Amino acid sequence: MSLIALLKGKGPSGFGYGSTAEQVAAGLNLKGKRYLVTGCNSGLGYETMRVLASRGATVIGTARSMEAAAAACASVKGETSPAACELAEPSSVRACVAAVKKKGPLDAIICNAGIMALPRLSLIHGYEAQFFTNHIGHFILVTGLIDSLAKTGRVVMVSSSAHMAAPRAGIEFDNLDGRRGYGAWKAYGQSKLANALFALELARRFKPGARVANSLHPGVIKTNLGRHMWSGLQVIFAAVGPLFLKSIAQGSATHVYVAAHPDTAAESGEYFADCAIARPSALARDSELARRLWQESERIVKRL
Ligand SMILES: NC(=O)c1ccc[n+]([C@@H]2O[C@H](COP(=O)([O-])OP(=O)(O)OC[C@H]3O[C@@H](n4cnc5c(N)ncnc54)[C@H](OP(=O)(O)O)[C@@H]3O)[C@@H](O)[C@H]2O)c1
Repeated sequence: MSLIALLKGKGPSGFGYGSTAEQVAAGLNLKGKRYLVTGCNSGLGYETMRVLASRGATVIGTARSMEAAAAACASVKGETSPAACELAEPSSVRACVAAVKKKGPLDAIICNAGIMALPRLSLIHGYEAQFFTNHIGHFILVTGLIDSLAKTGRVVMVSSSAHMAAPRAGIEFDNLDGRRGYGAWKAYGQSKLANALFALELARRFKPGARVANSLHPGVIKTNLGRHMWSGLQVIFAAVGPLFLKSIAQGSATHVYVAAHPDTAAESGEYFADCAIARPSALARDSELARRLWQESERIVKRL
């Protein structure tokens, strides 16, 4: 157990920083439930899919290519179904929506895939790559699948505490192409703030007492996400990781808690960390900003 897990202990849910996805799911019978997890071929998405499937759920696992999704799905026990979903390519996301719609209702959509801290400005369809991949790609996916979400279905947006590194304005609507300035962590923070705001606005749009939408911070975990990080930082991560970071099993616990645990079935518009409701930044609670982001995202998506 890491030092932080020892110090933090467990929260009111009985789970905490040190809990694993398997511990959260223990005792849950998910037979008949259907989940979609983006980024199923790596890190937290893979572990989330593995654990949900191990409890009897059917999991649609998406990856950038059908080959990657199929390989990941085939490597876990239980019922899984692969789908291609390249979030940077609207035609791929729309094809995924069409394919998933045919498979029947979903109990949760877990928007987990993401990229972090690209060292140089990179554009996708004219927009900064992290904003486009992490937010716009998932916006197309979730809005496309709303009708396939069960009456009590859940949308889970995997944000990050890094949403607090977003620019002062929160979302720089006048700089979504990064041309007025680019910072790797600011851009990542903006995209993760967008994930949290998307959940907030979706929760507002859902009828009370039915479908729910929440965002979460999984913790800090050594995964492939750090591939663009400065190599010195990667060495430090590797050295101190076992003491201070979460394992992948622990990092996926909040995904499973928010997507599948009965305790969270009625929670909506919240931000979770360590399997408990947490307080995000003031910007992530700004309902006006959330509304504006939704409108701007619709405008962007219409032109793609
Ligand atoms: N690890 C952490 O410390 C941490 C902390 C806070 C939040 N998070 C969030 O947790 C989520 C999962 O990250 P992770 O740590 O598990 O990282 P990871 O191992 O790198 O997994 C990320 C997943 O996203 C997929 N992905 C990336 N770009 C994509 C695209 N354009 N289209 C479709 N899929 C794409 C990756 O596919 P490929 O393998 O093909 O690239 C991979 O399956 C991310 O949203 C991240 O922001 C992680």
